Amino acid sequence: MKIAIILGTRPEIIKLSPIIRESQKQNLDFFIIHTTQHYTKYLDRIFFEELNLPQPKYNLGVRSGNHGEQTGKILIKVEGVLEKENPDIVLVEGDTNSVLAGGLAAFKLGIKVGHVEAGLRSYDRTMPEEINRILVDHISDYLFAPTNKASFILKGEGIESKKIFVVGNTIVDAVFQNLKIAEKKDILKKLQLKPKKYFLLTLHRPSNVDYKKNFYDILKGLNLIYKKFKLPIIFPIHPRTEKQLKIFELELPDGINILEPVGYLEFLQLEQSATLCLTDSGGIQEEACVLKVPCVTIRENTERVESIEVGANILAGTMPEKICYSVKKMLNKKPSWSNPFGDGKSGRRIVKILKERL
Ligand code: UD1
Ligand code: UDP
Repeated sequence: MKIAIILGTRPEIIKLSPIIRESQKQNLDFFIIHTTQHYTKYLDRIFFEELNLPQPKYNLGVRSGNHGEQTGKILIKVEGVLEKENPDIVLVEGDTNSVLAGGLAAFKLGIKVGHVEAGLRSYDRTMPEEINRILVDHISDYLFAPTNKASFILKGEGIESKKIFVVGNTIVDAVFQNLKIAEKKDILKKLQLKPKKYFLLTLHRPSNVDYKKNFYDILKGLNLIYKKFKLPIIFPIHPRTEKQLKIFELELPDGINILEPVGYLEFLQLEQSATLCLTDSGGIQEEACVLKVPCVTIRENTERVESIEVGANILAGTMPEKICYSVKKMLNKKPSWSNPFGDGKSGRRIVKILKERL
């Protein structure tokens, strides 16, 4: 069995790392194709180093661009590699343009596609990721659903049950595998932060940062939070967000400490010790839930509904007062929920299924 693992962005490297490690442990014949959708050190190389991952056999050098351009370039380049390597299966994870293009290239060559984190739906078709997820789910032969809910959604869309495997989310594996090492990092000390005395913020959804009004409203909400709770807001800023901040000439309100994106280990430490996470990230909604840190999601919808159902997360939208109110509401909750995303053995399960069936 020869496996091609396609990845391109920060969350894909992190969430595929447990499968890559397991494949190494079991001496499987696999190789990595990196689309290089993400290429800046702190969105890319740092994760290979920290997570001790093997270097990609192929770096496609695609980088940034409009959706059609980026997706098209990846499609063309992945096709060339797959024709040469002829793997038995291509694995993709999540919902980025790299996932769509990688999955589609394989499907059109008659190569089996395995989709890790299948069945997530926000039901918001304006979100670029939503169409990517739907399309990839519908061309996959192996759909690794993280939860029963995701599996139910897939069956409801007419996907055959025999293709769907509920395995948990590999983010839980990644958290469990790295938390102890992360605890040894000194980012809190470096930033002069006390545990549970700061908020952690990330933002990068186009709906939030590519629209000046929404971005402005969110910053206003953050200002209200700082005035009310008097805790610093630590903000490792995504390059998209940094770029938009400059284009819109928006000023960051008091209390926000901006920094470059950090590596996974430092981020886990920041996350675990935060009073609360404010985010529009998919992975951070899951991680905060696993780490028992309350989360306020700055979006109108989410595909991580399970975190809301267990009481770990709340949708705040972009209106300033609602963001501030949502923080207050979540701070009044006891973090006693149980994690709905799995037991940290998803990577092993996925590899076992592939070995049995291919
Ligand atoms: C992409 C994914 C999104 C995912 C996110 C993870 C799509 C449609 N979007 O969004 O689903 O949640 O990654 O972080 O696939 N840039 C850099 N350095 C980099 C990469 C990007 O400076 O290494 C800047 C460029 O200005 C680029 C912008 O960030 O134009 C956006 O990058 P892009 O990959 O298009 O989308 P993300 O917002 O990163
Ligand atoms: N993350 C990181 N450093 C940061 C911000 C995030 O390592 O500065 C990690 C975080 O722990 C999570 C993942 O990146 O595992 C989430 O990626 P992102 O928010 O970019 O994408 P999404 O999950 O929304 O697709």
